[in-house]
Amino acid sequence: MNVYDTARMADVLAPLGYSAADGPEDADMVILNTCHIREKAAEKVYSELGRLRQMKEQRMADEPDRAPPVLAVAGCVAQAEGAEMLARAPFLDIVFGPQTYHRLPEMIARVERAAGNNKGKSGRGAGILDTEFPAEAKFDHLPKVSPGARDGKGTMAGCTAFLTIQEGCDKFCTFCVVPYTRGVEFSRPGQAVLEECRQLVSSGVREVTLLGQNVNAYHGTGPDGDNWDLAELIARLAGIDGLARIRYTTSHPRDINDRLFDIHGHCEKLMPYLHLPAQSGSDRILAAMNRGYTAADYQAAVARLRRIRPDIALSGDFIVGFPGESEADFEATMELVRAVKYAQAYSFKYSPRPGTPAALLEDQVPDEMRSERLQRLQALLDDQQQAFNRQMVGKRLPLLLDRGGRRPGQLVGRSPYMQAVHLDASVELLGRMVEVEITAAHANSLAGQLVEPALHRNPRQLERVR
Ligand code: 5AD
Ligand code: SF4
Repeated sequence: MNVYDTARMADVLAPLGYSAADGPEDADMVILNTCHIREKAAEKVYSELGRLRQMKEQRMADEPDRAPPVLAVAGCVAQAEGAEMLARAPFLDIVFGPQTYHRLPEMIARVERAAGNNKGKSGRGAGILDTEFPAEAKFDHLPKVSPGARDGKGTMAGCTAFLTIQEGCDKFCTFCVVPYTRGVEFSRPGQAVLEECRQLVSSGVREVTLLGQNVNAYHGTGPDGDNWDLAELIARLAGIDGLARIRYTTSHPRDINDRLFDIHGHCEKLMPYLHLPAQSGSDRILAAMNRGYTAADYQAAVARLRRIRPDIALSGDFIVGFPGESEADFEATMELVRAVKYAQAYSFKYSPRPGTPAALLEDQVPDEMRSERLQRLQALLDDQQQAFNRQMVGKRLPLLLDRGGRRPGQLVGRSPYMQAVHLDASVELLGRMVEVEITAAHANSLAGQLVEPALHRNPRQLERVR
C-alpha cells in the first residue's frame, strides 16, 4: 500500500511541477514513506534520516544559493511517532500520516513560507506535523492518475498497478498496529474505483492489484446506493476492456463470502493466486491473537477454494514466537503448512509493537527461540515453493511481461500464479501478454521461452491457457 500511496503522492505533486527524480542526491524534495508493522521496518527510518540530514548539510555547503531540499516523512511511523520524530530530527520539514497526503500542496506552501522567513539557511526544518484522521476521505481530494506516474520510476512498472479500494482495519489482532496507524475500516465507493481503474488502463495498465489491509471486507457503495462486496467490484472491473488481469490482497480468512469463493471459479481475469494469511496453526495462539478462526476453519476455506479453482496458488503470512507460543503450538503451525502446501509465503518473528495488547503479555518468547523457529518454518516454506515451481516445468503459461531482466535482451513477466519468469524476448514485447513454455525452475523464479506466435490478438484467449 505504501507503493500505491507513493504513486498517489506523485499524482498530487505533478500539478506543482514535481516529477520523480532518479535518487535523493539531486532531488528538491525527499519523502520517506515508512512502515510501522514491525520494529525492524520502523528502525530503518531513523538510520535513513541520518543519511538525509548529511545530504541536506552537504547540499547547503556545496550550493549555498540553491534552496535546501525539503525533507518529509510519510506513512505509519510518521503517524505513530510524529511529534517524537520532529523532536529527534529537527531538520525535518514535514511529517504526515497516511490519511493526509492529499494536503501536501498546503504543507509545501507552508514550508516555503517558513523558508522565506529564515531564508532557509539555518538547517532547521519547518517542522510541520499533520497526523490527523480527517473526517473527509483523502480519496475525494486526490487528483486523477497523472499520465506517466506509473512509469516504473521508483513506483511500479507501466503495465501493472496497485489500486487501493479499502483501507484501515477493525479486526484488532492483538499483535498489529494497523488499526491504530491506518485507522478504522473504510471502503471506497465502487464508481470511484472503476473510474480510477479506467484511468490506469488508459495509461497502459493491464494488470491491477486491488489493495486493502482487509480487502475482502470491502463493502463500497454502488451508484444507486446499493452495497457492493468485493465479488461485485471484481465482476464490474472485469468488464473494463483492455484490463487483462485482476488480483487482490490482503484477505482475512474470516471475510471470504460465498460470492467471493465462487467468483474464483468463473472470472477469467481474476488470477488463480490468493494471499491468505494464517498467522499460526495453533488454535490457542489464534485465539490469543484475536484472529477469529481455528486452523480447521482456515483449512476448510482452502479446501473450498481448491474445489472451486483447483489450480489456485496459495500464499500466506505467519508469525512465529507470539507470546506464550510453545513448541507444540509452533508444531501446529508447521502441521498447517504441511497440510496446505503453499506456493510461497511470508514469515516473521513476532515483534512487540507499542500500544498493542500482545506487547503487554508477560510470556514473551526469547529471541533465540523465535529465530530458531523462524528458520525451521522458512526451510519448510522454501521447500514448498521450490516444489511448486518445479511442477511448472514443461507447462505453457500466459505471461504479462512487466520489466526488463538483468541482461540485455531479457525480459521478466509474471505467471498467473505470481511467479517471476525470465526469458529472452525483444523489448517491444514489454507490457504485452505472451505465451511461454517453462524450461527451468529456480528457488524464487522460473525460466521460459516464447511460444510462437508470441503475441495473440486477444489477450483474453491467453488467460484461458493453463
Ligand atoms: N510482529 C510480526 N509480524 C507482524 N505482522 C503484523 N504485525 C506483526 C508483528 N507485531 C505481520 C502479519 C501480517 C503481516 C503484514 O505482517 O503476518 O499479516
Ligand atoms: Fe492487522 Fe490484518 Fe489483523 Fe487488521 S486483520 S489487525 S491489518 S493483522
